[in-house]
Amino acid sequence: MNLKAKAAGILGTGHAVPDKIVTNDDMAKIVDTSDEWISTRTGIKERRFAPEGVNTSDLCTEAARQALEQSGTKPEDLDLIIVCTLTPDMTIPSTACIVQANLGAVNAAVFDLYAACSGFAYGVITGTQYIESGMYNRILVIGAEILSRFMDFKDRNTCVLFGDGAGAAVLGPVPEGYGILGMDMGADGNGGKFLNIPASGTAILPTDDARKKGLTYIHMDGKEVYKFAVRVMGKTAEKALEKSGLTKADIDLLVPHQANIRIIQSAAKRLSLPMEKVFVNIDKYANTSGASIPIALDEAHREGRIKRGDVVVLAGFGAGLTWAGMVMKWY
Ligand code: UT7
Repeated sequence: MNLKAKAAGILGTGHAVPDKIVTNDDMAKIVDTSDEWISTRTGIKERRFAPEGVNTSDLCTEAARQALEQSGTKPEDLDLIIVCTLTPDMTIPSTACIVQANLGAVNAAVFDLYAACSGFAYGVITGTQYIESGMYNRILVIGAEILSRFMDFKDRNTCVLFGDGAGAAVLGPVPEGYGILGMDMGADGNGGKFLNIPASGTAILPTDDARKKGLTYIHMDGKEVYKFAVRVMGKTAEKALEKSGLTKADIDLLVPHQANIRIIQSAAKRLSLPMEKVFVNIDKYANTSGASIPIALDEAHREGRIKRGDVVVLAGFGAGLTWAGMVMKWY
């Protein structure tokens, strides 16, 4: 029995990345690394870094404007804005408040959501609840990061992996049978130690002293995160599929979190998908955390890789540790 009041779907997407391209060869001038090491271990060829003066909210605003335009939504028609980021402009106000003001979305309630690289998928699942319940009609979900400001450019284990960018989607009601059909999300807080920024809140304030000790930068146990990712990425997609009533054979396109091509390949294998059915752009942008899935989704959509009726699966994992997956029939 379907108890849904309304089905929720994505009505439009957009993305924004900084102009500045930084290649693996550029990174090799900063730390002891090489294009060969980075591309064979991760699939990354280049990334974008935002210049000083460009903030997370600026990337959000540009991505949002594209998604609003594509979906035919006026800013004042938005009921809710959810910004999924671990690199907000500041602690207060939330980045969602800044974006609301930039867009003139005067009727929208707003909040930021912290789920790291799983953030956008968490955000869409959250937004879906408001549409399905009938409470809201138009919701803007944005995933955005400026990770370059939290990278230790002396640590080759982390600084070659990340990039900056934003992606956005407008959610709204769609005819029954379309839109988001299955969802899964979860977390294992015991894995928090594997990926964190120690001095970024009340536990350790981001003082000059903390900065000198390297505590204001991303710290990661890459091997542990890798093992976790391989375990959960395909699994969360499978759980979402099960809830949607569809099977692996129904998938037209997998849009995974872009952290490492080897992790993506292992998820594809678990889902019995040929790589032609997997969208990959890690080579261009590296790991943009909460922005990676919506940037990939927008590129896939604009390149014509997604059309009405296609079954699209999103799957992400990240710091927390967190994971989320969803299955949608594109409207
Ligand atoms: O969004 C979620 C966030 N993060 C992730 O998803 C990351 C998940 N983990 C990974 O993607 C991989 O574990 C990494 C790409 C981070 C590392 O790949 P790996 O195959 O697990 O490499 P490794 O950690 O085993 O390192 C192998 C060697 C080490 O040297 P030794 O100790 O064997 O002599 C590292 O010091 O590679 C060295 N190394 C590098 N060499 C050149 C580490 N980083 C670099 C580098 N350039 N940038």
